[in-house]
Amino acid sequence: MKDKSRRTFIKTTSAAALGGTMALNIGFPRSSFAINSDTLKVGLIGCGGRGTGAANQALSADPNVILTHMADIFEDRMELSINSLKELHGERVNVDKSNKFVGFDGMKKVMDSDVDVVILTTPPCYRPQQLEMAVAAGKHIFCEKPMAIDAPGIKRVLAAAKIAKEKKLSLVSGFCWRYHFPKRETFQKVLDGAIGNVTSVYSTYNTGGLWLRDVEPDWSPLKKKMRNWLYYNYLSGDHIVEQAIHSIDMGSWAIGDAKPISATGTGGRQSRIGDEYGNIFDHFGIVYEYDNGVKSFHFSRQQKDCSNSYGVEVMGDKGQAIIDCIRGKHTITGAENWRYKGESNDMYQQEHNELFASIRNGKPMNDGEWMAQSTMLGIMGRMVAYTGQTITYEQALNSTEKLGPDTLDDSTEFADPPVAQPGITKFI
Ligand SMILES: NC(=O)c1ccc[n+]([C@@H]2O[C@H](COP(=O)([O-])OP(=O)(O)OC[C@H]3O[C@@H](n4cnc5c(N)ncnc54)[C@H](O)[C@@H]3O)[C@@H](O)[C@H]2O)c1
Repeated sequence: MKDKSRRTFIKTTSAAALGGTMALNIGFPRSSFAINSDTLKVGLIGCGGRGTGAANQALSADPNVILTHMADIFEDRMELSINSLKELHGERVNVDKSNKFVGFDGMKKVMDSDVDVVILTTPPCYRPQQLEMAVAAGKHIFCEKPMAIDAPGIKRVLAAAKIAKEKKLSLVSGFCWRYHFPKRETFQKVLDGAIGNVTSVYSTYNTGGLWLRDVEPDWSPLKKKMRNWLYYNYLSGDHIVEQAIHSIDMGSWAIGDAKPISATGTGGRQSRIGDEYGNIFDHFGIVYEYDNGVKSFHFSRQQKDCSNSYGVEVMGDKGQAIIDCIRGKHTITGAENWRYKGESNDMYQQEHNELFASIRNGKPMNDGEWMAQSTMLGIMGRMVAYTGQTITYEQALNSTEKLGPDTLDDSTEFADPPVAQPGITKFI
């Protein structure tokens, strides 16, 4: 695995399939695979669009990896996932009937199995619990963003990440832009002073609506909600935490992941107001203030038929950096004008290439601290928008508010919290 030329056998495209994040593998031979003592076994928890994509990327990262265990609460999701993966990877998708776990207890069964690596791609409400379980069970981890939906969850994630470090387990996050070569080089230049001292940051994730899936009348109340988990803040964290977190993360990257002093913001629900859209907002506007006077402005919306924008503009006292995720442009204007002309890469594949190389090399990776901190910024943004208050970082991190019930399974009877109203909704 130290042989870099191996990578030349991996031919991937960023073909849009299954959630837009499933790359097509046409690399490793699909027949005559023999398990040996170096074979790494992978368990997939959450077999939706991103989970299927991530499993494909794990199998594409290293020829001696097999998928052996899967968990989802819906059989149809699991079957779609396994069939797609089998088409791409043949017998390396080696999930025995007894290792397919359908139900809320499936994640525990995967954790209890002999897999070496777990892929955590359920909705984020489970992430802190899953990270704790995975670390306790000694698994290497790929976990999708966001890492939690509330501050108590962030503390659990930080604690689990610390133990992962002590146990020399690799922990790689799905904050995918951090694995994108053009962004790595652009942000490194900013951090190295290409635009002087950063004075402000402007980040956006302004996009249209997202999917809405049919539910069956005989499903348990939580299963019905889970089918459309995006729209319930106690499952997703709201879209500033679940989706816009990517641009908030890049904004944080630009200033060396410093912690803000406070945040103030607004937000609401104007266009997407039907009951089927649960209790989340459809727009946010937040300003994060830092002790050196830097302000980071963030706008996000999920409203259809509006103008779209996704990226980060970083203003410095000697120039400006623009990262445009829609057009794929990375430019710096300043003492020296620059634009990224190097190789682009499939960032989703890169996450797994680095994860599996780190396991093989015995040099564990740990994204724990910054992945928790970026998620916390999203949670803090939601807190200030929901309440209408200015809140310090310390207050936000020490918030005791838990968005959902402790148990999320078929027994859960939980009335949706009302849509937040700034000035009325209290900070807890
Ligand atoms: N990095 C990225 O670009 C990116 C892109 C898409 C999604 N994501 C993240 O990936 C995660 C999954 O998103 P998705 O788009 O794949 O959603 P999805 O709805 O397609 O998949 C989630 C799956 O988890 C299953 N699930 C729900 N509760 C479960 C439980 N208790 N045990 C096992 N399975 C359970 C669902 O049935 C579903 O199949 C989210 O955290 C999301 O934010 C990241």
